[in-house]
Amino acid sequence: PDFLHLGIKLLHWFETNARNLPWRKTNDPYKIWICEILLQQTQVKQGLNHYLKFVERFPNVESLAAADEDEVLLYWKGLGYYSRALNLHKASKQICNDFKGKFPENYADILSLKGVGKYTAAAIASIAFNLKYPAIDGNFYRVLSRLFADDFDVSKPSAFQYFSELALLLMPDDHFGDFNEAMMDLGAEICKPKNPACEHCPFNIDCLAFNSGKISNFPVKSKK
Ligand code: ADE
Repeated sequence: PDFLHLGIKLLHWFETNARNLPWRKTNDPYKIWICEILLQQTQVKQGLNHYLKFVERFPNVESLAAADEDEVLLYWKGLGYYSRALNLHKASKQICNDFKGKFPENYADILSLKGVGKYTAAAIASIAFNLKYPAIDGNFYRVLSRLFADDFDVSKPSAFQYFSELALLLMPDDHFGDFNEAMMDLGAEICKPKNPACEHCPFNIDCLAFNSGKISNFPVKSKK
């Protein structure tokens, strides 16, 4: 398949179909970081108001680092997974102490922040700094395994590496953040786990699973 053509097609689709979300109006890496931590275990709809209130009260890394832990937790109330809030608070101090208050601008330094794993580091690096890192998660597994009718078992630990390499083949040479956010939107709104909206998918003429009537066979998952 023409991988690059597919990636460009996804970017075109995103130009007119991107969800209108508040963190997409900023290029402040601090706010993008807050949003990516918040969306780790929280759906967009459930997290929107918390995001807006959080960045209103803590508009920059200094204000977060200076806050009491209890107040940070208060602004996380209702979201669950409170270690995320504690890690945000710790990482804000890390940024102030180790990075002189300037949000780190490369993948390895972003990954070194407390609470930031490979997926989140890739999301921040691509969205805030336009660095070429695919933000591989279940959305990528599902979209790519369907697109290529690829039966690679997504429950294997090696799936991360496998789908990272595949995603890099599709990634155009610019707009890396848009590419990742396009994949998030496609996975959330079109290529859903159940009842995907294939009739609206930019890939429907390319998708090997859809065109063989085998959408429900992908992704292959041996362990649940
Ligand atoms: N889920 C995780 N990060 C996201 C983002 N930047 N936009 C939409 N959904 C997301």
